[in-house]
Amino acid sequence: MASTGGAEVLVASNRGPVSYEVRSDDAGGGALHAKRGGGGLVSGLSAIGPDANAVWVCAALSDGDREAVRRAEGGRLPVTDTGGQQVRMLDIDAGVFSDAYNGIANSVLWFVHHMLYQTPLEPVFDAEFRRQWGAYEAYNRAFAEALAKEAAEGAAVVIQDYHLALAPRMLRRLRPDLRIGHFSHTPWAPPDYFRLLPDDIAAELLGGILGADHAAFLTRRWADAFVDCCHAVLGPGIPAADPSSGGTRIGVHGLGADADFLRKRSHEPDVEERMRALREEIGEGRKTIVRVDRTELSKNIVRGLLAYRQLLDDHPEWRERVVHVAFAYPSRQDLAVYRDYTAEVQRVADDINSVYGTAGWTPVVLHVKDDFARSLAAYRLADVALVNPIRDGMNLVAKEIPVVSDEGCVLVLSREAGAFEELGEDAVVVNPYDIGGTADALARALALPEGERAERCKRLAAAATALPPAAWFLEQLGALGG
Ligand code: F6P
Repeated sequence: MASTGGAEVLVASNRGPVSYEVRSDDAGGGALHAKRGGGGLVSGLSAIGPDANAVWVCAALSDGDREAVRRAEGGRLPVTDTGGQQVRMLDIDAGVFSDAYNGIANSVLWFVHHMLYQTPLEPVFDAEFRRQWGAYEAYNRAFAEALAKEAAEGAAVVIQDYHLALAPRMLRRLRPDLRIGHFSHTPWAPPDYFRLLPDDIAAELLGGILGADHAAFLTRRWADAFVDCCHAVLGPGIPAADPSSGGTRIGVHGLGADADFLRKRSHEPDVEERMRALREEIGEGRKTIVRVDRTELSKNIVRGLLAYRQLLDDHPEWRERVVHVAFAYPSRQDLAVYRDYTAEVQRVADDINSVYGTAGWTPVVLHVKDDFARSLAAYRLADVALVNPIRDGMNLVAKEIPVVSDEGCVLVLSREAGAFEELGEDAVVVNPYDIGGTADALARALALPEGERAERCKRLAAAATALPPAAWFLEQLGALGG
């Protein structure tokens, strides 16, 4: 089933490097507008260069994407839209896609790995769950079949994330000649929590990933949790302790920040302009506590705001002298629980401003419209960076802020973020559930002497850039013998 002249390197992920929007043109028709995304995979893939004979397989996520697939010649998107990358976007039936993505990936697997359920009432694994699980299998099969068709004999395939946990085994069955890797960008749940899942589903997920030659994670903690789940669900010998016996090898590759890109991009004119605007919102001579997140339930933005309120109560000397700059950008708005959470973030921020604010001081500056240049501006201005997720695969914001910060910032970091493994020593560490503890940490961070703050920040930046995206991607390929 290998295609002649097929790709030597393949990447598979739900979200691809480009998205499309249909905009009506003057003639009343629909013009397609392409928007390129960023992130670790996009810059990682650039490491192998345009001549590497690589293909990225991803899903169409919107009507605009579907239209782009229909217009694509030979199934490949125009390279002018993708930054030179060969991209095959899969037009999976919209209902199947929604059940797989919203129903299973985001409402079950994300919740399990981030331990987000309110367990007295959820999860409920009923007939509707089983129906959606069928869609998740079909979605994974569509990827496995596309990869099998696109890959040259013996090619390396790196499959990304919880959306595609079943694809490695499916692909292995179709193409035993391929070298297959799977990479998890989320945490992995400990066995007691993972076993909330019905036994057959738990076994299918683990077995799906074990179809890969190499299963990789962002930290040792998540890799160990995966192995513990395999032992608890599949049996003590799985995966085989001795990789030479042909089992799946387990790897850890801690994706780092892209220092060169960030330092250059954060000094461009649009960032400078946003710094001026932010300075005005913040006010002269005030310190800043900065956070930048997609509004995920796991990011713990509401408790961050409550801790800031506690700081203003416990340390009234900081009133008028500090501003919490919180950027909470939209995410997964198809899910009601995300929409509700977003509204709660706004409500708590408004409440703090109305209780504590004065004529010349807005205690919380909240922005909810995604703006990368403004995020970089806030990174540069940060005195304190607040990164307090309930649980997080890595959290790249924790790594990016110290790299970009102008004056050196103090990182207040949750011990449940993957980044804690590499940055914990030089951060002020918090239990993300402890509001009082987080308020104390913010107070300590604000008061840290300048010299110590600069020294810590330098060490944080060095640790944060130890494995930049290009090297991270090459490690994944290297682990497949490529
Ligand atoms: O941030 C963790 C992560 O799993 C990324 O690897 C992935 O791109 C993202 O979450 C998925 O988010 P979305 O649902 O917006 O595509």
